Amino acid sequence: MKPKILVTREVFSEALNFLGQHFDVTPNQADTPMSPEVLATALADMEGALTTLSERIDEALLAKCPKLKAVCNIAVGYNNIDLKACHARGVMATNTPGVLDDSTADFTWALILATARRVTEAEQYLRAGKWTGWKLKQFLGTDVHHATLGILGMGRVGQAVARRARGFEMTVLYHNTRRLSAEIEKSCHAAYVSMDELLARADILTVHTPYSPATHHLLGATQMAKMKSTAILINAARGGVIDDAALVAALKQGALAGAGLDVFENEPSLHPGFLKLSNVVLTPHVASSSEATRRRMAMLAAENLVAALTTGKPPNLLHPPV
Ligand code: DGY
Repeated sequence: MKPKILVTREVFSEALNFLGQHFDVTPNQADTPMSPEVLATALADMEGALTTLSERIDEALLAKCPKLKAVCNIAVGYNNIDLKACHARGVMATNTPGVLDDSTADFTWALILATARRVTEAEQYLRAGKWTGWKLKQFLGTDVHHATLGILGMGRVGQAVARRARGFEMTVLYHNTRRLSAEIEKSCHAAYVSMDELLARADILTVHTPYSPATHHLLGATQMAKMKSTAILINAARGGVIDDAALVAALKQGALAGAGLDVFENEPSLHPGFLKLSNVVLTPHVASSSEATRRRMAMLAAENLVAALTTGKPPNLLHPPV
């Protein structure tokens, strides 16, 4: 008998077909989000799960799923998974690193340019039939070229964002828990600075840290107060790293010039203040969503699940935090 697995959300057919060669698969191609209760019932008899960041995998759930051996997330981020609880119960957890760096970096640039040059605001104006002709002072934006780009979190995505900044002849500064090697700094044309210097000097500050208790509200009112009032804040990493209420207040007061956000605290709910502001560009957590990349993410997660349940050694096994 093949092991039983659950695929919690809709996936591409090639991933489903691949899983079907190894497992008795319960898919969710209707893509209905599962409440914790529904998920627990659906997983009660399963050995494996292909999950997304919408499902919370915690001790309360694991306690109801005694047969579960592996949870394979279709995401590089895994803040929806309690790794300690998984480890304690002998459940393997995996993510999808490496396959989405470039697409996420591309999209970060889409947010930078759209926010600095007010692209969505100008388009909405035009679509609303308000454009009566060229004006010298219309939609004056902020120049990206030759500006100072600050990168908070210099992992794979942060580095990919930095490399793209060369084309705009920018000064690139970064802050990270650990300073990178001189070789990587050189290849990214990026200089390491303290958090305070990053906040004070960045014209555009882009966030690329994972979300964890250590990064919760890493950018709050205190940090925003240290930034230039002309600065733009970008987040295509994880909600919760920025204090959304503090950001709304800073944007309203003119303490920051704008923000480009793909991720939010408590998503899919948004802080209502964002919707009233014209100087924010808002997108629904799609930074990695090119067709090729999302296909690769789903396939890598499926490969992790097959390896986990057949060899016990998935390529992207996550270890619990020390
Ligand atoms: C990730 O991989 O963590 C992305 O946020 C998913 O879109």
